[in-house]
Amino acid sequence: MPSARDRIIIVLDLKAIHKRYGETRALEALDLTCQPGTVHTVFGENGSGKSTLVKILSGIITPDQGEVRVNGQIVTRYSPLWMRHLGIVPVLQEVLVAPNVSVIDNIFMGYDGIFRRRISRADRITRARATLTRLTHAELDLDQLVESVPLPQQQLIVIARALVHDPSILILDEATAALDIEDRDMLFALIREFVGSGRLVIYISHRMDEVIALSDVVTVLRSGRAVASLPRAEVSIPRLLNLVLPDTPLAQKVTENPHVQH
Ligand SMILES: Nc1ncnc2c1ncn2[C@@H]1O[C@H](COP(=O)(O)OP(=O)(O)O)[C@@H](O)[C@H]1O
Ligand SMILES: [Mg+2]
Repeated sequence: MPSARDRIIIVLDLKAIHKRYGETRALEALDLTCQPGTVHTVFGENGSGKSTLVKILSGIITPDQGEVRVNGQIVTRYSPLWMRHLGIVPVLQEVLVAPNVSVIDNIFMGYDGIFRRRISRADRITRARATLTRLTHAELDLDQLVESVPLPQQQLIVIARALVHDPSILILDEATAALDIEDRDMLFALIREFVGSGRLVIYISHRMDEVIALSDVVTVLRSGRAVASLPRAEVSIPRLLNLVLPDTPLAQKVTENPHVQH
């Protein structure tokens, strides 16, 4: 018998999402469809609306217009707790840790909710260790206060905080920014395994090497709109540059000469 999770097919569908901050149109009629079992990258310049999209999917902000559907069901409540209940868990761009709280308590911060029973400290420790082992070879003292943990390891703590929820949709917003290469490679392996089990990763990065290495699909945002969704086979640096910055001399030069270094 397949388990309940094996039967879950997570399709995420966004239609005509608008979000403004005063005069700023952060998202403008954004359409996006993500399939299960894929790393779906959202790529775009600074200010193109990536983190706004992440905050909507995380239930931190509500769209002004438009629909988000999870497995065909329209989302009617935007709150972090409800999105988590739907299986969506983010790692936000800002490394949000409580400095004067231990590593273990940071990992399980906000874990207890109205939809979930408390788990014992022993179980927390076991799960935290199992999760961190998949993220890094470094030994972290779980009782240490996070203020004395270096930033790269703080980033691992916030990734572990997302993973202990066992999400169906994991969102990573510039989550590798502080990681060293070894830990980044471990995270990439974990991401491939995660989507291999039929789940979905929404991956945000401005690093083209990472995007090309990891993505099954890349959606390019420009000024809050999705201007293209490319399957893996069509993703290349010149193509991405042209979509992100179509009018710049650099993008044109790259198109003319795909071997140009930059
Ligand atoms: N809380 C906010 N208040 C006002 N403007 C915001 C806020 N958050 C984002 N913006 C603006 O919305 C646009 C999109 O921002 P963001 O989604 O953070 O882009 P990205 O993550 O792609 O860099 C930018 O112009 C940004 O300045
Ligand atoms: Mg951002």
